[in-house]
Amino acid sequence: MIDKDAKEKIVIYGAGAIGSTVFAWLLPYYRNLFLLARGKNLEKLRSKGLTIYKQHKKDKAVTYSGIKIIEDIAEVSDPDFIIISVKNYNLTEVCEDIKSKISNEGSEPIIIALQNAINNQELLPEYFSKIVYGIVCYNAWRDDYGVVGYQHKAPIVLGTIQNQHPEERRKAYEILSKGLPTEITDELQDAARSKMLVNLTNSVVTLVGHGIKKISSINALRKIISNLMNEGIQILKKAGYHEVRLGNMPSWRTVTFGMKLPGFISNIVFKKNISKMVRSSMAYDIIIAKKQKSELDSLNGYFVQLAEKVGFNSKYNRKFYELCKKEFTKPDFEPLDVELVWKKISE
Ligand SMILES: NC(=O)c1ccc[n+]([C@@H]2O[C@H](COP(=O)([O-])OP(=O)(O)OC[C@H]3O[C@@H](n4cnc5c(N)ncnc54)[C@H](OP(=O)(O)O)[C@@H]3O)[C@@H](O)[C@H]2O)c1
Repeated sequence: MIDKDAKEKIVIYGAGAIGSTVFAWLLPYYRNLFLLARGKNLEKLRSKGLTIYKQHKKDKAVTYSGIKIIEDIAEVSDPDFIIISVKNYNLTEVCEDIKSKISNEGSEPIIIALQNAINNQELLPEYFSKIVYGIVCYNAWRDDYGVVGYQHKAPIVLGTIQNQHPEERRKAYEILSKGLPTEITDELQDAARSKMLVNLTNSVVTLVGHGIKKISSINALRKIISNLMNEGIQILKKAGYHEVRLGNMPSWRTVTFGMKLPGFISNIVFKKNISKMVRSSMAYDIIIAKKQKSELDSLNGYFVQLAEKVGFNSKYNRKFYELCKKEFTKPDFEPLDVELVWKKISE
């Protein structure tokens, strides 16, 4: 399937859950596709290749070997596209690295930034001029170095700040859409925040250890998630943002409607949905990799700050954010009981 005329040089910078899946899906179409990795992940990718599987189909996992794994962006001269798939807290070092090594005389590479949240919109323009932002609407996770699972393919939605650089946005679309569902939005700011609203759940499942320890009360978990999201919607609306529907994520209407239903009915629907939830990337950082670093500030912290800015009393989000902040920085973090979490944020 490789297009013999495809001359584009594409580097995916960051070989985690998102970088690895995008790499695997683009691989059949590009001869000059590189995945930049580091440390043990790099060693594993070089020795064993990259293994990707769809949720519940690990027995049908595909391993890609003989792939172009690099450890230094300088190994690729004049890349046309650099897809940055590191987390927000690694973004500065990555921008510094790219900027110091890539000259692309006359033609700067197009940067495709795949972070959740909006910090990247402040940071990246300090380093680059052609930037397209991608909102990733699927879930993926790393089981081990070089082994990545994903829930199902769902779009990456591309936009630019104030819809600048339409040509670069179109080119980014052409690159990604060969291998995965890709869409373009003119409403990047609303779309990014609509995604961030859904990402409020990442910290919840991390704090209570969903998928890692038994959840003592589905009712308490539902109340935490629905109150955080419902309040998040109110904060966004008060700040003048609008909903953009993304992939098959729940609509704002569904979230607010769910709040009005009797608890026993909501719990039935919620139980079904929560059973489909996969381990979040934040849970990997805090529980598995024990990094004490996460995107909590970029996601939950943003809502708390925005609420303050627009004069909204964000009772649940503020208490929840402060609780996570305290717990996630503990070197020996252990997930908390869900009922205790609900008690702490609702009292
Ligand atoms: N996972 C999801 O389902 C999902 C969905 C939507 C959006 N996102 C967003 O996508 C972004 C990436 O998330 P992710 O889940 O893919 O994270 P991840 O699995 O932690 O992957 C990030 C990768 O970047 C690598 N990295 C970080 N700094 C680096 C550096 N200086 N040099 C080389 N490699 C570096 C990490 O290296 P190590 O191997 O050493 O850790 C890791 O392999 C985040 O902003 C996240 O919010 C994720």
